[in-house]
Amino acid sequence: MAFRGPECYVDMEDLARARGVPPEKFTQGIGQRQMAVVTPCEDTVTMATLAGREALDAFDIDPDEIGTLIVGTETGVDHSKPVAVYVHELLGLPATCRTFETKHACYGAMAGLTSASDWILAGRARGRKALIIASDIARYGVGTPGEPTQGAGAVAMVVSSKPRLFAFDTSIEGDYTRQVMDFWRPLYSKYAFADGHYSIQCYLDALEACWEDAVRTAGGSHEAFALSELDACFYHVPFSSMAKKAHHRHWEVELGRRVERDAPESGEIATSYRRLVEPWLSLNAVVGNIYTGSLFLCMVDYLRRISSEREGRPVSLFSYGSGCGAALSVAHVSDGASAFKEAVDPGEHLSGRRRLGIEEYEQITRAAESADQNEAGEADPSRWGLAGNLYYVGTVDHQRRYAHLG
Ligand code: CAA
Repeated sequence: MAFRGPECYVDMEDLARARGVPPEKFTQGIGQRQMAVVTPCEDTVTMATLAGREALDAFDIDPDEIGTLIVGTETGVDHSKPVAVYVHELLGLPATCRTFETKHACYGAMAGLTSASDWILAGRARGRKALIIASDIARYGVGTPGEPTQGAGAVAMVVSSKPRLFAFDTSIEGDYTRQVMDFWRPLYSKYAFADGHYSIQCYLDALEACWEDAVRTAGGSHEAFALSELDACFYHVPFSSMAKKAHHRHWEVELGRRVERDAPESGEIATSYRRLVEPWLSLNAVVGNIYTGSLFLCMVDYLRRISSEREGRPVSLFSYGSGCGAALSVAHVSDGASAFKEAVDPGEHLSGRRRLGIEEYEQITRAAESADQNEAGEADPSRWGLAGNLYYVGTVDHQRRYAHLG
């Protein structure tokens, strides 16, 4: 696994002050400290490529070993051409590697992950591995309620029959689909539309339905994924305090009844949250919502702090994509996973980011609106003070151009 995001961020206290909101609303109520911001030269393709390259390099995997590449994204760059095919070229993957994009809001990468695992289980991999990359830009727009829940980034994961980090238990799987208008982004809009409070309700209802389906697939018992047995619960994290609401509902579903936030039992829920969920939210709190990758960012956070005693322990994963589709899965930490804690840690990458003032963030946001049609104007890396080596550099003859610099 590997995470890579954009080169700039906004501090949530700066944003709160600029919007005339008490900073505690963003830092405690929403639970975010910083949010990653893309310049017009960074997009779903560049972030996916950087994360993919990091995953291959950190785990010493030859690009020729990859037989399937799937990019899960809400933030495609073309109505027809998949993000994945640009990434395929930029990573130098073999021509025999099947390559496609999956979309279902924040659930796209989980759908990719399960289809990669099915590809392996069906015997079609013939010894090869799959590369799944979740890459997204969460954009709600300046001054909207969703603004403090923006973010951007990519998580890359290599899936194989001999997993070095997590092994999925394919006998337990809870699925759920329902057509709801909680969050959507019409073809003509760069910005997402959300019925924010309703979306939280839809998320929690989907978690409950997935848990019930997972019990059915596990033969009528939740013993294999009881909260008391788990070492961590990873949830989709559109903003950090959503994970707290999710864990509360998870606990209620297991208990079989609702528990008011101020009831005596809520102390037990808080203890469980502090043990199973909160420790793995530190990356989400400084990156923001990365839609389909946000669940996996918690897993990266878990891995970078892992000790060998956690090897073999079960963990749960809940993916929620608005619209809506959701899944609950169980995995076990692989033996030897703790040897990779430094390899997966994106701490150095994150500490190299540049803090934007609010005026510059708003200027970047306006420039990003027209970057897709840009004949190398706004999409000039030197204009935004960028220091990396892979960028989107404009659209010429209706074709997106990417360049390696330096
Ligand atoms: N100090 C501390 N806390 C404060 C505070 C203060 N001064 N002022 C408010 N708060 C708390 C509130 O009590 C609230 O906490 P609880 O939910 O625990 O009660 C929290 O801060 C947020 O306050 P509001 O609900 O009043 O905030 P809001 O209405 O302005 O917006 C939001 C919140 C609805 C999440 C909005 O940011 C939004 O629409 N976000 C986008 C949609 C989203 O992320 N939905 C999540 C589920 S859907 C999904 O997961 C898919 C996806 O990725 C989009």
